[in-house]
Amino acid sequence: MNRMKCLYLIAFAICASVLGFNCAVAGELADEDGSRLWLRGDKYNGAEVLFRGSMTPSIEIALSELRGGWRGGPVRLELKKGGGKESFRIFSDKNGIKITSAGDAGLLYGAYHLLRMQNTGADMSNIDVSEMPAFDLRILNHWDNPDGSIERGYAGHSLWRWDELPGVVAPRYREYARANASVGINGAVLNNVNASPTILTKDNLVKVKAIADELRPYGVKTYISVNFASPMVVGCLPTADPLDKGVGRWWKDKVDEIYGLIPDFGGFLVKANSEGQPGPCDYGRTHAEGANMLAAALARHGGIVMWRAFVYSASDSDRAKQASLEFQPLDGEFAPNVIVQIKNGPIDFQPREPYSPLFTSLEHTPTMVEMQLTQEYLGFSNHLAYLAPLWKEFFDFVPPSSLKGIAGVANTGDDVNWCGHHFGQSNWYAFGRMAWDPGLTSGEVAEEWLKQTFCSDSAFVTPVKGMMLDSREAVVDYMMPLGLHHIFAWGHHYGPEPWCEVPGARHDWLPSYYHRADKQGIGFDRSVTGSNAVSQYPDSLCRLYGDVSTCPEEYLLWFHHVPWGHKMRSGRTLWDELCHRYDHGVSEARRFQCVWDMAEPYVDSRRFRDVQSKLRIQSRDAVWWKDACLQYFATFSGMPISYGIERPVHDLDDMMKFKLDITNEECPESGFNK
Ligand code: GCU
Repeated sequence: MNRMKCLYLIAFAICASVLGFNCAVAGELADEDGSRLWLRGDKYNGAEVLFRGSMTPSIEIALSELRGGWRGGPVRLELKKGGGKESFRIFSDKNGIKITSAGDAGLLYGAYHLLRMQNTGADMSNIDVSEMPAFDLRILNHWDNPDGSIERGYAGHSLWRWDELPGVVAPRYREYARANASVGINGAVLNNVNASPTILTKDNLVKVKAIADELRPYGVKTYISVNFASPMVVGCLPTADPLDKGVGRWWKDKVDEIYGLIPDFGGFLVKANSEGQPGPCDYGRTHAEGANMLAAALARHGGIVMWRAFVYSASDSDRAKQASLEFQPLDGEFAPNVIVQIKNGPIDFQPREPYSPLFTSLEHTPTMVEMQLTQEYLGFSNHLAYLAPLWKEFFDFVPPSSLKGIAGVANTGDDVNWCGHHFGQSNWYAFGRMAWDPGLTSGEVAEEWLKQTFCSDSAFVTPVKGMMLDSREAVVDYMMPLGLHHIFAWGHHYGPEPWCEVPGARHDWLPSYYHRADKQGIGFDRSVTGSNAVSQYPDSLCRLYGDVSTCPEEYLLWFHHVPWGHKMRSGRTLWDELCHRYDHGVSEARRFQCVWDMAEPYVDSRRFRDVQSKLRIQSRDAVWWKDACLQYFATFSGMPISYGIERPVHDLDDMMKFKLDITNEECPESGFNK
């Protein structure tokens, strides 16, 4: 090491320790495995923290977190009358700092907020902060199965060890709850929306109770997904018809049993009549009739039903229209404790989608948005894609105040670093922070996360934050730019397979249904001359999206079938623009490698190398996507790949013979299940 670098490192290490930040200087600090997430604050155990009043488990946690992590003067916690039970105020007076709230959850959130301010180096002179959550429901949805697998999970197996519960209660449940509480997540649906009816057996409910007992002190409420046919499978009834009296009674008894075990149980999440799941429509009943029957059983205990609107049948109608077609006529028919849970876009968590028009067309129905943290369509846990910008984009169209809640399909598993990719943790973190305050910018949240997870030095934070902020757009560019969507390989959603044909398959499960490339052009005509999906949007957007000359280019091929020679705003033809975007995605992925390599002095070598190897995979995959899509689409456009961009390195015929290998040997731990 040369003398300058050595001096620099020593100076840096002194600074870091004086400031109390968790900066690693390569070779100076021990390797980390990522298991501590963003909660890496050293334990001090010196803080004077006081609370007078009746103690609760949540307040005990707040006190112990502050005693362990607060490095300032005395802190007093106080329960006050009035205001929300999760809201809090932090202010300083002559005796030090005071956190007040009307509820113990609010005191807990206040404690984490104070620690976050300290650990991110916020200005705390004359502190006076009042916070209240934007949504009452801030819930993670786990797509975990009873056998320990996770649908669309890429971070190992389920956190819930059903086989050893309730006898063995893993310490990770509390760590999970703590991480959630630290960012304000207050609910968890434990099991997959493709729900096994067996979750409702006596034996399993006792296991659910054991988990609920661990989550409760951290303010995290427990919910479960239920299968609509449960009365038949578990209860041996001849039907699950929601209007059948016996069925209603069965659900009431089952709900009573659950509340007997878990008095603060949150309620049910339901996927019905979707992708083969049973539901009320099997009996000629509506979604509202099905949801309301469950809601009646839960209402007596204060529970809710989150009824998913993710429905699309094998009909001729444009898949993007179907949820609206089915749910719009039911507006106003749902019971007050039913919330319709809608995915952010009308299709299925694509790297970019316009918002689902149901959000603006349901006027008399409480709704909540479902986002996806697990990167089913954004490179699994191999690609770095910071998703806050995607969620912010949604909120540009759907104001948070119009929603009852927000759900996030979790990206956690039993991998030692929880999320498979160290940067996957940023999506868990950002989900919680944005669910609390969607007014935060993506950059603010990224910065908070980086400072707590890695290092506070601006020489590290500024470039790495920039990489995070650009990462989602890079994925869009190398996978599906300009509004292209769902051109993934059959059977998994990782690599490209725009050419995929499977005899007998549902046409809306095939990429050609979505890209519609032909000699004339490419894209799905959803304008008035096509499926007219644009008409489901409010008039102003309908006009904007419906006209090819005004449609924002990021949605162009979502709403229009556009000629290859169409002039884009850049002055390029559509074909050249497509080439350019794919190429840009690739060069971004490569740039991220450079950014990360330059971050080496600030990160312990274990996490540095983990991320470095994932970025290598991402770059390779980006090239694969570009080569596959451009060469395949060139067979329609008949045009050469723009000369200004990098030449393909793969041969289309070869690429068409096998799928992009997602079991890449560089990351054998990354899980996939389909
Ligand atoms: C997607 C996903 C499925 C999931 C479904 C859902 O289709 O691929 O695995 O079950 O969404 O959200 O219900």
